[in-house]
Amino acid sequence: MVKRKTKFMCQECGYESPKWLGKCPGCGEWNKMVEEVEVTGGNRRGAFAHSQGVSTLSKPTPITAIETLTEPRILTDLNELNRVLGGGVVKGSLVLIGGDPGIGKSTLLLQVSSQLANKGNQVLYISGEESLRQTKLRAERLGIKSENLFVYSETNLEEINRNIESTNPSFVIIDSIQTVFHPEVTSAPGSVSQVRECTSELMRIGKTKGIAIFIVGHVTKEGSIAGPRLLEHMVDTVLYFEGERHHTYRILRAVKNRFGSTNEMGIFEMKEFGLDEVANPSEIFLEERSQGAAGSTVVASMEGTRPVLVEIQALISPTSFGNPRRMATGIDHNRVPLLMAVLEKRMGLLLQNQDAYLKVAGGVKLDEPAIDLAIAVSIASSFRDKPTRATDCIIGEVGLTGEVRRVSRIEQRVQEAAKLGFERVILPANNLSGWQGPKGVELIGVSTVGEALKAALGV
Ligand code: TYD
Ligand code: MG
Repeated sequence: MVKRKTKFMCQECGYESPKWLGKCPGCGEWNKMVEEVEVTGGNRRGAFAHSQGVSTLSKPTPITAIETLTEPRILTDLNELNRVLGGGVVKGSLVLIGGDPGIGKSTLLLQVSSQLANKGNQVLYISGEESLRQTKLRAERLGIKSENLFVYSETNLEEINRNIESTNPSFVIIDSIQTVFHPEVTSAPGSVSQVRECTSELMRIGKTKGIAIFIVGHVTKEGSIAGPRLLEHMVDTVLYFEGERHHTYRILRAVKNRFGSTNEMGIFEMKEFGLDEVANPSEIFLEERSQGAAGSTVVASMEGTRPVLVEIQALISPTSFGNPRRMATGIDHNRVPLLMAVLEKRMGLLLQNQDAYLKVAGGVKLDEPAIDLAIAVSIASSFRDKPTRATDCIIGEVGLTGEVRRVSRIEQRVQEAAKLGFERVILPANNLSGWQGPKGVELIGVSTVGEALKAALGV
């Protein structure tokens, strides 16, 4: 029989007390006491070990003698989601989906629930945020009708547990973890100990019964999933659903995945009747590009296994007073001053009294060195007020001496540019050997930033 006892513990010094104290008698710090739940009896280790796919009776085994088995996966109708999950939903996995309020987490999960239910799986959608009627209204809007989809409005974890036992679903959705509470933990729903305790209980249920559980987690102002970071360590997969509210595009990315890569990104569009996947993201990212404008370039960046073409915009304008500003959205802001220093030192561009604003159009975030050259060309283009050609795509990493370095997967990037009608690709000269570009695309190999500027801007 599992018994729970609550106590309070100082996060600084570990002082224990049966009741909450504002000031810790151990170290004198204020507001450091958090609730801890002590579990005695039962086999806690069993649940955890099982969650890791470990038998409690395991012993050291030669690695060659271990049988590999591929996790059984179930595909949803949303290929973008399947890809981010690493090829479908793994049975018995615990997936956390974080995102700002109103971004579409409930919509996404309700759609996925209905797709899974249509395939004959029992799905239990537990909403602690909305009433049954509200969920029904949303389902009507999304055109959902499936007899295998059960909706349940409950926040008490023991009740939830009992209902999971009786309905025996294959999928459970908890919307959201901040609203559920464990009746044996005295602190308020959404607090650190509640979130932690409820998640570990859900993990135990999911792992022992082989149920895939999706948990919605709200994001704090700082941008991380509310509750302890520990939550991210406990679950198998952490997905973030992002996007700007006034844009209809939404990006789903994995930040942790025990069953797949974390580089993948899925793109959706919020429409009147729910989320729709975007199969060709390059097209939408380039849709609103103003052609022939100074400061704009297009780069082919790898997002996981898929190349995506995106526009990088720069605006360079004289500083009116004080220190020049360096601002960047969608790219690492440390890269901007670095590339500006390279342009200044190697190319003689006088940028020290110029403000620089960099932006990746369409709300995507790029995080790879292959976008350096496009940033540098955008900056030079805006500074010189010389537009780049609308049919040029620029790829390359830039080193501190102004050299252009080789990037990975060049063929895929060039293919994508060719598919979207780009006529020239400016790329690292070192990347040129050993393959042939597609027909109709001129490949211009460059080994320094100077050569790239000459090719792109003619200066
Ligand atoms: P929601 O899924 O409730 O967000 P979250 O659970 O992340 O808080 O998303 C709500 C938003 O999505 C709301 O602003 C309305 C919009 N929406 C649509 O545009 N189309 C739809 O079909 C649905 C269901 C919602
Ligand atoms: Mg919601």
